[in-house]
Amino acid sequence: MINALKFTLILTFLALFSFQARAQLTTKAQTPPMGWMSWNLFEGNISEQSVKEITDALISSGMYEAGYEYVIIDDLWQGGRGADGKLFPDPEKFPNGMKALADYVHSKGLKLGIYTDVAEFTCAGKVGSLNYEEVDAKTFADWGMDYVKVDYCGAPKDLQTAIKRYTKMAKAIEISGRDMVFAICEWGQRSPWLWGAEAGGQLWRTTWDLRDTWEHGDFYAGKAGIMEVLDRQADLSKYAGPGQWNDPDMLMVGLYGKGSSSSANGAAGCTDREYQSQMSLWSLLSAPLLACNDIRTMNAETKRIFTNKEVISINQDALGTQAKRLFKKGTIEIWGKQLADGDWAVGLLNRDDEKEQTISIDLQLLKIEGGVEIRDLWEHKSMGDFEDSFSLEVAPHEVKLVRISTTQ
Ligand code: GLA
Repeated sequence: MINALKFTLILTFLALFSFQARAQLTTKAQTPPMGWMSWNLFEGNISEQSVKEITDALISSGMYEAGYEYVIIDDLWQGGRGADGKLFPDPEKFPNGMKALADYVHSKGLKLGIYTDVAEFTCAGKVGSLNYEEVDAKTFADWGMDYVKVDYCGAPKDLQTAIKRYTKMAKAIEISGRDMVFAICEWGQRSPWLWGAEAGGQLWRTTWDLRDTWEHGDFYAGKAGIMEVLDRQADLSKYAGPGQWNDPDMLMVGLYGKGSSSSANGAAGCTDREYQSQMSLWSLLSAPLLACNDIRTMNAETKRIFTNKEVISINQDALGTQAKRLFKKGTIEIWGKQLADGDWAVGLLNRDDEKEQTISIDLQLLKIEGGVEIRDLWEHKSMGDFEDSFSLEVAPHEVKLVRISTTQ
């Protein structure tokens, strides 16, 4: 009871008096990180070979050219901690060690990321970094890592401990001598958007693990679908900006239910339209764009969704604004974010399961007066000039993503 009260008081204090969310705290991750993360597809099958193959596929598919640069090794890479106190990778999975693998990834122009936990063990039960923060950060730096995802399984639930442990890890990364992005992963349980940047993180997960499904019906008990996770981003836009991103978890695009825990509780995968909607929404949210599908064998539709440069430019816009939910009525929503050049990116979302709906947007909502040009970013074409308002037909579970520029 006393602990719960303390927790609430500290969070209230942070919300009222903490850092200015948009103040410049770092030069890292000035736009949301883009890349690929191993967890959903590989889990324990992660290996040197698979990382190399994914790296090559990111290049041959055009994804690297489109901006996806991080290859992030998630949990279950670990072999253990040696007598010298240092972590070592599983020798069967990574026979040539992490340094050689980082050299390979770097030689192709990409960056490599790794995973640990600020407790004794990671979420999948491997050795964690508690009390070895400096040693481990130095090891990751020596290996040539560029990104470190740090989980919270097995750590005490209270807020002070979370802030303390993440700050310690961030400091260790800071003094390691290598620029490594620091990704906090405590699943949004202690409102990390209030303290994550000050603790030294450039991004922080805002929810439990996202499942490979459009809507699961229940956010809790491992049932977070794209819609449930989206709802939890609606009030977080003020905490995002260059170097400090809310992270609603990976892009499920092209996974088609082939993951393991991402398909827990019957999450059987999504349709291409739903995957495209996630790409639209995550771009509007300035979320990290981290694919998790099998890049080596992905189909043309998946590749098309990932590599749309007009959509990616909304995500990577220099202003770093996270979209707000500007309108919601029944199963219709309008999400919008302002861009560095003064344009607006707007997503018209139809959450209805069956019926197509006409979604109209009154330009007053964006405080725009006069004429605008509207461009459909998936169709790559201008829809013409409009004044005051415009309407679009939106299919079930579709997001129409448009860029709005004033013409006068
Ligand atoms: C947690 C994280 C996941 C993944 C797994 C690995 O569940 O939220 O993203 O890193 O641990 O064990």
